[in-house]
Amino acid sequence: MDRQQISRLAHADHPIAAPLDDDSVRRLLARAVPGDGARVLDLGCGGGEWLLRALTGHPRLVAEGVDISESALDHAREAADRLGVADRLTLHRADAARFAAAHRFDLVLCVGSTHAFGGLPATLAAAREHLAPGGRVLVGDGFWEREPSPEAVEMLGDLSDLPTTLGRVVADGWTPVGGHISTRGELDAYEWSWTGALAAWALDHPTDPDRAQALETATAHRNGWLRAYRDCLGFLCLVLRPTDA
Ligand SMILES: C[S@@+](CC[C@H](N)C(=O)[O-])C[C@H]1O[C@@H](n2cnc3c(N)ncnc32)[C@H](O)[C@@H]1O
Repeated sequence: MDRQQISRLAHADHPIAAPLDDDSVRRLLARAVPGDGARVLDLGCGGGEWLLRALTGHPRLVAEGVDISESALDHAREAADRLGVADRLTLHRADAARFAAAHRFDLVLCVGSTHAFGGLPATLAAAREHLAPGGRVLVGDGFWEREPSPEAVEMLGDLSDLPTTLGRVVADGWTPVGGHISTRGELDAYEWSWTGALAAWALDHPTDPDRAQALETATAHRNGWLRAYRDCLGFLCLVLRPTDA
């Protein structure tokens, strides 16, 4: 199994690939979508869950998603068909950092995918290029809730604490107009779902040649979460508008 197949199995019960519950996603979208008829872009859209929820909630909204994972995009396409919103969704298999669109967007999303750009500042710089006048960005990224262990930094990269993260975003010319800090419950629920769905798949497929790999991956992920980063990682979503647009 490659990483994309593992990710699909691990997200079976938690289609938003980030530590947010359904209510948090709903409230963030309500804050971020500028209105029905908006044009929305998701950079690193994965299975398209944010866009699918925006599309089903706004009958005139049109959306585009960008991801490098063909299997994630297939999943988004099938779900859009099933939900009757496929005619308003365009999917691009591309590197989000190199994606050039034909037009600008009223909302640019990038949740849990800032690594595609090399971090939050570069993500916001790219998002700004896609933004129409009056547009908003909804970005989600990790931060250090507490001093990280060297192991956590090695696994998750060079994050900063919450006030420093916000200070840098504001200094970069953005004003937060909404946001959400994932609760410990949301963070734990996401990890339990990720590891649990993958492990359950392995147990449900005792003769599958990928069973051992799935079980090992679930165990390694759970150990990394509990040993390296559960006590120091937070997750922040921000709804941003350019300060001087
Ligand atoms: C943690 S998932 C987040 C998916 C989605 N934003 C969500 O919240 O459900 C990260 C996604 O980024 C995608 N990705 C990673 N590098 C990328 C790149 N260079 N260009 C586009 N997508 C990328 C992965 O394929 C994966 O679907």
